[in-house]
Amino acid sequence: MGAKWVLMIMVVSSLISANVDAKKDKVCDKGWECKGSIYCCNQTISDLFQTYQFENLFAKRNSPVAHAVGFWDYRSFILASSDFQHLGFGTTGGKLMQMREVAAFLGHVGSKTSCGYGVATGGPLAWGLCYNREMSPSQSYCNPDYLYPCAPGAEYYGRGAIPVYWNFNYGAIGDGLKVDLLNHPEYLEQNATIAFQAAIWRWMTPIKKKQPSAHDVFVGNWKPTKNDTLAKRVPGFGATMNLLYGEMVCGQGEIDPMNNIISHYLYYLDLMGVGREQAGPHEVLGCGEQEAFNPNTAAATS
Ligand SMILES: *[C@@H]1O[C@H](CO)[C@@H](O)[C@H](O)[C@H]1NC(C)=O
Ligand SMILES: *[C@@H]1O[C@H](CO)[C@@H](O)[C@H](O)[C@H]1NC(C)=O
Ligand SMILES: *[C@@H]1O[C@H](CO)[C@@H](O)[C@H](O)[C@H]1NC(C)=O
Repeated sequence: MGAKWVLMIMVVSSLISANVDAKKDKVCDKGWECKGSIYCCNQTISDLFQTYQFENLFAKRNSPVAHAVGFWDYRSFILASSDFQHLGFGTTGGKLMQMREVAAFLGHVGSKTSCGYGVATGGPLAWGLCYNREMSPSQSYCNPDYLYPCAPGAEYYGRGAIPVYWNFNYGAIGDGLKVDLLNHPEYLEQNATIAFQAAIWRWMTPIKKKQPSAHDVFVGNWKPTKNDTLAKRVPGFGATMNLLYGEMVCGQGEIDPMNNIISHYLYYLDLMGVGREQAGPHEVLGCGEQEAFNPNTAAATS
């Protein structure tokens, strides 16, 4: 019996190593934009999403009444995304899913940085990337924190493409990006590449261990547990809002803050030529019925 088992183990282990080798073979190198991962074998974001599309989506950002004129540009977004494409950002699941993910991520960005209201020219959805910071902060968002104590004089009001608030969030994102945001929160309103990197990092990173990221729930990397199903959390765009904003946006029925984010996503799908009908049914688009993944905690952003 001994010999038989040894043989079987050898066969199994050689199958495993053959499988690993097959995976290794698929790793691709597309230079600065995507390197050293299976995801890089697919098209990269700049193949699918080009300058003119960025200009269409954020058509009003440099109009004289906007609040971050000259700050945001396509190049910064592509540079920032180059750090995350090898992890699957905008490179997962084939062209349609890739474009949907870019639209979904930018839908959050557009909604959170918009200064468009009902009367705005071009319509309220044309004003994404109007801001790069909170205009009249009512406080400095400093909370005693052992890991990420506030730097003297620093203010941690909302800044960036998906605004970051609070010292502990600046600290955690700074660690993730290897940029000292705790001591230099102002980087997020001075450098659009860093501002986009911070937002993509948040999109790609679970808030807690064992939780999915917004990316995971969107591209289908996540299988809901029984608890998730009981809490009405299903894979899709709605769950991205749940992870990014929790109870502020989700579990409250059809509220404006939720519908505004969805509207930006759908508008961008149309402008990118994908079409809003590719967004899927309203049950997966919204999170009005979902319980928060992280109840009663300040969600990582806003
Ligand atoms: C690459 O795209 C194909 C379809 O075009 C898709 O089936 C596959 O999952 C993608 N690969 C990765 C690693 O996402
Ligand atoms: C903005 O940040 C990026 C990434 O850290 C860096 O490469 C670039 O030099 C910065 N740009 C400016 C003008 O400081
Ligand atoms: C499911 O929820 C219950 C009650 O909140 C909790 O005790 C349990 O640990 C959860 N299970 C998982 C797998 O998260």
